[in-house]
Amino acid sequence: MPTADSILDHTPDLAPIEAVTSPVASDVVVVGIAAAGTASGADADPGASAAPVVVAPGLEGEATAALATLARSVGAATKVGSTTRVPAPAGVPGGSVVLVGLGEAGDEISDETLRRAAGAAARACRGLGSALVLLDAERAEAVALGAGLGSFRPAKVTAKDGGRGDDDEVGPDALRVFTGAGGTDAVSRGDTIAQCVGLARDLVNTPPNLLFPGSFADRAAELGREAGLEVEILDETALTAGGFGGILAVGGGSSRGPRLVRLTHRGGEGRPTVALVGKGVTFDTGGISIKPAAGMEQMTMDMGGAAAVVATVILAARLGLDVTVVATVPMAENMPSATAYRPGDVLTMYGGTTVEVQNTDAEGRLILADAIVRACEDSPSHLIDTATLTGAQMVALGKKTPGVMGTEDFRDRVSELSRSVGEGGWSMPLPEELRDGLDSEVADLTNVTPHRWGGMLSAGLFLREFVADGVDWAHIDVAGPAYNDGAPEGYLPKGATGVPVRTMLAVLEDIAAQG
Ligand code: BES
Ligand code: MN
Ligand code: ZN
Repeated sequence: MPTADSILDHTPDLAPIEAVTSPVASDVVVVGIAAAGTASGADADPGASAAPVVVAPGLEGEATAALATLARSVGAATKVGSTTRVPAPAGVPGGSVVLVGLGEAGDEISDETLRRAAGAAARACRGLGSALVLLDAERAEAVALGAGLGSFRPAKVTAKDGGRGDDDEVGPDALRVFTGAGGTDAVSRGDTIAQCVGLARDLVNTPPNLLFPGSFADRAAELGREAGLEVEILDETALTAGGFGGILAVGGGSSRGPRLVRLTHRGGEGRPTVALVGKGVTFDTGGISIKPAAGMEQMTMDMGGAAAVVATVILAARLGLDVTVVATVPMAENMPSATAYRPGDVLTMYGGTTVEVQNTDAEGRLILADAIVRACEDSPSHLIDTATLTGAQMVALGKKTPGVMGTEDFRDRVSELSRSVGEGGWSMPLPEELRDGLDSEVADLTNVTPHRWGGMLSAGLFLREFVADGVDWAHIDVAGPAYNDGAPEGYLPKGATGVPVRTMLAVLEDIAAQG
């Protein structure tokens, strides 16, 4: 585990993953169990449930039957992601077995069920040595991705540097994903995606005294260079020279000045350009419109959009996507101080639009607006921005469903792809009726409406003002989904989740495929 000095250089702690084409002997073996449905008929024993169906590709029939009997006798739960550990019967190449629930046997097992089950199983294998995962040899990417994401351990800041294993909770030494011939590429792709989601999680989990605009920008630049990206950092002087009034205002209250980071992955000549923009508020006190103390510590995650965008452009490079991806990432710390911006200030944003500040806690849209205008100067065909933007997102959709707004066709494409990868994005409207609330008597716009209705949507309408005509745009509000304040579940740990990295990857690949 890292110290305060090394946490920013920390590599995400995921178990190493390899593909195996035969069920090699391991310390623990993971198999699936699905409910066989309730027994019925004259001789059904009321109260006794049927043995579950065991899903264990690569095992002989006898071993599978023995596992079914064992699962039944211990009453192993078949709910997706439930785990039960039992001793290995004869014919199973391990010391013990983790039985992981896959739901009902009659139902088709979705990729998301596989990912969740593999993630929960990887967590249950912690401290047990090498794990052989027998779930679906044909869908090795879903299994590897779920297992990799589930094996992730959030970093802890410790007094002394140490490697894996200096903690009570040790990840599996190796995750061996059983796959048919040719599954090696699928496993390695799943692993690469899990590593980049892990990167986003680590950045979000890094405490706000250690991750601030300057250190975040330097780390993003370093990671970008390692991945072969073009890198540009605008510091406070460059932002002043460029006229980035939104970023400068929001970052002005902090002794640690704001940044704008640009990371570019080049696709081939003539390929489409996709712009990504992510909110990087490294800590949101609310500024002069200060937040209540209770729960304020969670505002360390207010750079979740930025972390996801940085991780996604790196992922685009690592996977060699044939599309140009330009990430534009504004970073600022929203603090109250003698140099802080005030309610009543009128800002001149990058590009010239003026904005009356009515609430300094509606800061995300101000830094995003500058970044969106800058991003549109590259003439992208598509622009995705993502942010932990509004509490209203959670009121409307809960903690796990990102709200997706924007130009309608692209918005719907993004939310469908988000659901297909298990991140659950949902399309939301931008009602014209709410737009009037953003009119100001003293400037072109105001940053908040006079009422709180549709708060997620009015934030989206504010951003829309800054998107260039003709650009297909989607805005993903992940105020809830970026952070799991409950217990670990499926492949999601407690703390940062890495949402919406996999949604953005799916969109980039979809655009790359359309040419
Ligand atoms: N970062 C917050 C939104 C947020 C709240 C994210 C809770 C995650 C959890 C954002 O900057 C904010 O403060 N939004 C205000 C906007 C309001 C002042 C119009 C909000 O949602 O209350
Ligand atoms: Mn705020
Ligand atoms: Zn914020």
